[in-house]
Amino acid sequence: MSDSTRGISRQHTPSEWLHDPDGFSATMPRGFEIGVSTAAFQIEGAVRDDGRGPSTWDEFMGQPGRIADGSNASVATDHYHRYREDVALMKELGVDSYRFSLAWPRIQPGGVGGPNRAGIQFYDRLIDELLAAGIKPMATLFHWDMPEPLQHRGGWMLRDTASRFADFAIIAGEAFGDRVDKWVTINEPTTVTLNGYALGIHAPGATLMFDSLISAHHQLLGHGLAVQALRSVGVKGGIGISNVHSPVHPAKDNMKTRAYAELFDIIHNRIFADPVLLGHYPKFPLLSRKLFKPLIEVDAADLRTIAQPLDFYGLNYYMPSRIGSGAPNDDATPDGSAESVRELPFHLRPWPEFPTTGFGWPIAPEFLTETLNDYATRYEGVLPPVYITEGGASFDDVVADDGSVDDANRASYLADHVSAAFAGVEGVDVRGYYVWTLLDNWEWAAGFEQRFGLIHVNDQTQERTPKRSYHWLQKVLRART
Ligand code: NOJ
Repeated sequence: MSDSTRGISRQHTPSEWLHDPDGFSATMPRGFEIGVSTAAFQIEGAVRDDGRGPSTWDEFMGQPGRIADGSNASVATDHYHRYREDVALMKELGVDSYRFSLAWPRIQPGGVGGPNRAGIQFYDRLIDELLAAGIKPMATLFHWDMPEPLQHRGGWMLRDTASRFADFAIIAGEAFGDRVDKWVTINEPTTVTLNGYALGIHAPGATLMFDSLISAHHQLLGHGLAVQALRSVGVKGGIGISNVHSPVHPAKDNMKTRAYAELFDIIHNRIFADPVLLGHYPKFPLLSRKLFKPLIEVDAADLRTIAQPLDFYGLNYYMPSRIGSGAPNDDATPDGSAESVRELPFHLRPWPEFPTTGFGWPIAPEFLTETLNDYATRYEGVLPPVYITEGGASFDDVVADDGSVDDANRASYLADHVSAAFAGVEGVDVRGYYVWTLLDNWEWAAGFEQRFGLIHVNDQTQERTPKRSYHWLQKVLRART
């Protein structure tokens, strides 16, 4: 946490680069890579095709009241059948790399045993198409779609799932290791634990609150075992993880609020980054140690497994968090008592100085720079090269009669955030930025309500129409020398 952002103008103005893509291009460091990022479950559809098994999200999206617009992802953007068209759109855009995820239930339907040939063949075709288009494949092993049989046994609450995940990594490594340029083991374990196991707003919908913390440890263990697994089968690409980071600031400058902010930083950020980079969990504040008991008591051998040397570190950045203590339980202290466990008021306070996205997330690129500079300090000497593996914004896009979308706001967002990933960053080797996301897609519990794409997708016809942000980025990439 730092005060580096004080005094900066909070006006929402279009980026200075909106009308000058060439000028923006000239500011980018030589060799800085630009990619686009997606996830299988959000785009593929075809949930019953070619032997794919059900996932925890298939189950969750079928439960009444779980998805904001009542939709499901069984067709999504039909990428499974339209991947050629989508790769052609990426080629036209001119990106260096494409980050996608391998659907575990497509490749190993029950989560155990041998591979499903047809599942492997789909990603073979996709990867070959990418390589033919001159686009480097970055493959994520776990972007949340756990095979339902494994979820049924306990999912990430169960230690054995980490070993099952390592077996899946071997299958994937053997099949694609000769062609994948970069591997991401797990995407945002934070979101899985917090939204999926603690708060119940994502699959599997568990509301375990602090009792969910062991799912964080098992994911991290799965990460470490998967790194070992990929190395054991000799994959040629680099290996990393994608952790989401939200820099945390207390809403008020008093001891109690600062304590909550620190706790949120631990839960949201440090529990997931420290073991990977430093080989231990963060120091938990004395008063809340009871809450973290399961993490304090883990085996030293697990921590050694988790801290595998990495070739790169993936950071997803969307927004800062402003944390307030207060209603509904103003006097609660994070002391680990049953009551405070249930009612810990991690209130994300509005941040009136900043404009917001369709999700209401503050648009604050300066906090990406702050995040990277904080990483330089926190993880000095142990931080490998960094890729921003996700960043982007949902907006209420207005579609003109001809289907076009003039999303100057998204182009501005991207210009300012891509710039914030290198300008003013010191002590971190930032190698690239992956835009979330290529296509408007199925945004988990928000269904189709939040559009993040560079390309508009018509829900009825699946027709793809590049938005202004796509054309802006295309000009930036074409202007590179
Ligand atoms: C991060 C997740 O990895 C991605 O799946 C999601 O769509 C974006 N955040 C936007 O919420």
